[in-house]
Amino acid sequence: MSGHSTYNPGNGFSRWLDARLPIVRLAHDTAVSYPVPKNLNYWWTFGGILTMCLAVQIVTGIVLAMHYIPQTELAFASVEHIMRDVNYGWLLRYIHANGASMFFIAVYVHMFRGLYYGSYKAPREVLWILGVLIYLLMMATAFFGYVLPWGQMSFWGATVITNLFSAIPFVGQSISTWLWGGFSIGDPTLNRFFSLHYLFPFLIAGVVILHIWALHVTGQNNPAGIEVKNKDQDTVPFTPYATAKDLFGMSIFLLMFAFFVFFNPNSLGDVANYEVANPLKTPPHIVPEWYLLPFYAILRAVPDKLGGVLLMFGAIGILFVLPWLDTSKVRSARFRPLFKQFFWIHFVVCLGLGWCGAKTPDMVVMQVGEIAFTVTHLARILTFYYFFHFLVLFPVLGLIEKPKQLPESIAASVLGKSAAKN
Ligand code: HEM
Repeated sequence: MSGHSTYNPGNGFSRWLDARLPIVRLAHDTAVSYPVPKNLNYWWTFGGILTMCLAVQIVTGIVLAMHYIPQTELAFASVEHIMRDVNYGWLLRYIHANGASMFFIAVYVHMFRGLYYGSYKAPREVLWILGVLIYLLMMATAFFGYVLPWGQMSFWGATVITNLFSAIPFVGQSISTWLWGGFSIGDPTLNRFFSLHYLFPFLIAGVVILHIWALHVTGQNNPAGIEVKNKDQDTVPFTPYATAKDLFGMSIFLLMFAFFVFFNPNSLGDVANYEVANPLKTPPHIVPEWYLLPFYAILRAVPDKLGGVLLMFGAIGILFVLPWLDTSKVRSARFRPLFKQFFWIHFVVCLGLGWCGAKTPDMVVMQVGEIAFTVTHLARILTFYYFFHFLVLFPVLGLIEKPKQLPESIAASVLGKSAAKN
């Protein structure tokens, strides 16, 4: 797709370097001359936005780590020290903490975009799988990071999640002890979580490079979901077209980011985390951060602990095999009238699961006479649909659906048929 290189070294030094390490050529072919479909909409700016989020998290995280102390006696106080004494420490911390939420907002938009336009389908399976791997790494990184301030929710969240492993038959308890580095969550746990929280973003960066490499091999999908036929008519060079659009998308995203950092810096966090961790006092309501709530709801929907753990991991694991579950020849939901409706149902189901994860399981949602319909009942129905959507609807819809007529080409989809002929 990217074709042969169009880089032309302009001066003696560039020619010298290009013959030894063609790094400028690589940058040019990746970010300047790389052809992008001309019908991309703003949902395609989220890959760039995600790259920006990763950079922001790494830069702010490195500076925070200069002041943070990974010891149970001092961690909470060191965070307060960052907030009060370190120059612009409050800003760094608020950007980093809210940045995690922004990162997840962006990744969910990016993933649902992929689901809607069928970007996971052949030939982009590896690109998608690398994305799911990034998503897993992101969740692990966020989990480790949330433990570091050593507040009540840090401690009890870590307790709930690490205890999940004890559900594994025979070896479960040993695994929990091994993860903790002791018989309960303590200094060794905090230390290793800090170490891993520092390491994982660099692993993510490595997988992102593979992700973008895979993207450049197959070329981008697009809202019409059809392949490039004629490079001159169907594509435009990445710079200036995609760069300008990406920069605009990033600017709007940064406005939202700034709104949270400067006006509502604690609205996405939990107030219980401003109380220092106390192993003797269990908070009445332990909840993860908002972006993990749907999975928490699935975990709690199952009465059996091991079953809940398996289903929760299954909810993520199933994403790896989506390219093979979907039987439709047509990619984009624009041309799949049935799939489009179920896509939105699934989207609402995911939001509903998130809502269930935030509520206490026995909260009554609806009362019909004697029968109380609780959050747990709702979560069970939504969990069922979540799996039904992928395991049953994905294969079946592709077989029974009659797709709409696809445009002749990308150029035709954006300019109309007559213009494409020019
Ligand atoms: C740190 C996280 C991530 C970064 C930095 C990132 C980066 C990018 C970039 C720059 C693009 C090209 C621009 C675009 O299409 O928006 C892209 C495309 C893509 N990404 Fe990601 N990505 C991330 C996470 C994910 C995740 C979690 C998934 C799925 C589970 C995913 C799936 C895809 C797919 C399928 C495409 C191709 C889209 C298309 O061409 O239609 N990515 N990604």
